[in-house]
Amino acid sequence: TQGLPTKVIGQNLVYYEKTDSTNSLAKKLANEGAEEGTVVVAEEQSGGRGRLNRSFLSPFAQGLWFSLILRPPFLPMEVSKMTLLAAVAITHALRQQGLECGIKWPNDILVHDKKIVGILTELNASMEKINYLIMGIGINTGITKKMLPRDLKKTVTSFAMENIPVNRTKLLRDVFCDLERYYFEAEKEGFSPILEEWKKLSCMLGKEVEVVMPDRTFSGVAFDLDDSGNLLVRTDSGVERVLAGDVRVRPI
Ligand code: BTN
Repeated sequence: TQGLPTKVIGQNLVYYEKTDSTNSLAKKLANEGAEEGTVVVAEEQSGGRGRLNRSFLSPFAQGLWFSLILRPPFLPMEVSKMTLLAAVAITHALRQQGLECGIKWPNDILVHDKKIVGILTELNASMEKINYLIMGIGINTGITKKMLPRDLKKTVTSFAMENIPVNRTKLLRDVFCDLERYYFEAEKEGFSPILEEWKKLSCMLGKEVEVVMPDRTFSGVAFDLDDSGNLLVRTDSGVERVLAGDVRVRPI
């Protein structure tokens, strides 16, 4: 972290060659009182976790696999907006590297419909207060088609697969800086400018989507976010408000 131009994020950096999941490790450290901005980074995860109980492929040195411990002064119900904030910050950092990417609600980052970044936010809170928030981020840098299991070949990409050279250390620094910039902005000014930015960076608004919930599925056109960061989808029978959580949204 020498010379890292951030105030908080990454100033306490915990590095592992290999761990099961940086999110799990970060949770443990947070329970032991780790300070705000602590980052756990690993070269390889043997049990990388994704949203909706899925696993997340994280082979040795082929990506940035890391988790941030935050203790934001927000209400627990604002957590989904923190996830949108992370997607905005990372998209910004990736575009600076020359990668044409956009955000798929709530927080996948895609290049030409293929996923290059996944974000898994985990919360420890009471009704009134966030104790801590773990923000787990996986960015595929060196992954090649050969490394991917067959079911992921058509849906996953990386800097290498997009032929964009990348320096992992520099990218990690840029991501820390952008995350911190937006985080401080949210603390000062609230989330509305960030939600507006999200809309600009989204590759989903205006498109026909299918929403898969545990109990039902419907389709419509995703057209906006509301003030809480929920996705608004226009269907034949009216407007549906889609909350993050057990939801899968896919373009059709
Ligand atoms: C998703 O796409 O569903 C979210 C994937 C999140 C992956 C990252 S990699 C670092 C951190 N540790 C984990 O076990 N998961 C997150």
